[in-house]
Amino acid sequence: MMTTPAPIHVPVLLQEVLANLVLPPAARVLDLTLGLGGHAEALLATADAETRYLGVDRDPDARAIARERLGADARLSVLACAYEDLWEDPHFLGWQAAQAPQGFDAILADLGVSTLQLRTPERGFSFRDSGPLDMRMDPEHGLSARAWIAEQTDESLADAIYQYGEERASRPIARAILRALHEGRLDTTQDLARAVYTVIPREPAKRKGHSDPATRTFQAIRIAVNGELDRLAAALEAAVGHLRIGGRLAVISFHSLEDRIVKQTLRRLAGIYDGPGRTAPMVLPKVVKLIHSGGIAPSEAEAAANPPSRSARLRVAERLL
Ligand SMILES: C[S@@+](CC[C@H](N)C(=O)[O-])C[C@H]1O[C@@H](n2cnc3c(N)ncnc32)[C@H](O)[C@@H]1O
Repeated sequence: MMTTPAPIHVPVLLQEVLANLVLPPAARVLDLTLGLGGHAEALLATADAETRYLGVDRDPDARAIARERLGADARLSVLACAYEDLWEDPHFLGWQAAQAPQGFDAILADLGVSTLQLRTPERGFSFRDSGPLDMRMDPEHGLSARAWIAEQTDESLADAIYQYGEERASRPIARAILRALHEGRLDTTQDLARAVYTVIPREPAKRKGHSDPATRTFQAIRIAVNGELDRLAAALEAAVGHLRIGGRLAVISFHSLEDRIVKQTLRRLAGIYDGPGRTAPMVLPKVVKLIHSGGIAPSEAEAAANPPSRSARLRVAERLL
């Protein structure tokens, strides 16, 4: 599927992940977003020979690269699955029964897209290069971005762009995109970007710190096409249920919508009431404790060295009961 060489994906908040997921002997580790195996490689380097590491990803290109990178490591198993569907997946259940019947010591979810996906034009995630308007993390299932857009009305597309991209000009942008589609001018990522620029013109020389006007619309359509936020809270809750007591879940999010879901889910599992009014209508069981209540952001040095890390936030919870 990939025709261009695989770009490097620099694992984000790596030292912070290692400091928070200290593996015991014979650890059982579940990586819900294996990607190119950057976090996996570093975590495995801290682990003993009896450790078993299950890496899950829905992207066939990512799995192939991670296998090539770490394939010689007999402690690693790689599974093709979306993490929302993992808990019922027969291959996962078989692996878990054989390798981790007591649950996991560490579970990692490094959410969102990888540099591989963003920088491979054929995958259609980016407006930097022209590629087919696809954006699926798993190109073997679901609708491409173009097919998804073709199913939208002005209103539903505007709602998605507003909700998932926090784009204030969502209505005129949605109209411009559907106009381009109906006039046969919406086949590539650059066609989509051009439709956005008809509403928010692109500055000729991009000013430092100013993102491209198409960024929020691309983020929104990608989130919608991949259903990225639909079952995140349920998946995190299921992940906590698969931890051993004392085991930790570490989640890295990349934008405020994602982080809000992670934060609210972990706080609720920590027995903290965030609903309306001062007191909870019922006592919430304290299933986890939060390790850093505000989460961890990348250091200035990391943000400067790896700009995609700038918006990342790591949240860690430890299972209590
Ligand atoms: C940020 S990258 C992970 C990078 C990885 N930690 C590394 O160091 O190489 C996120 C990965 O999660 C995968 N992914 C995103 N949503 C997923 C889902 N719902 N189920 C399974 N994999 C998913 C993507 O395909 C991508 O490869």
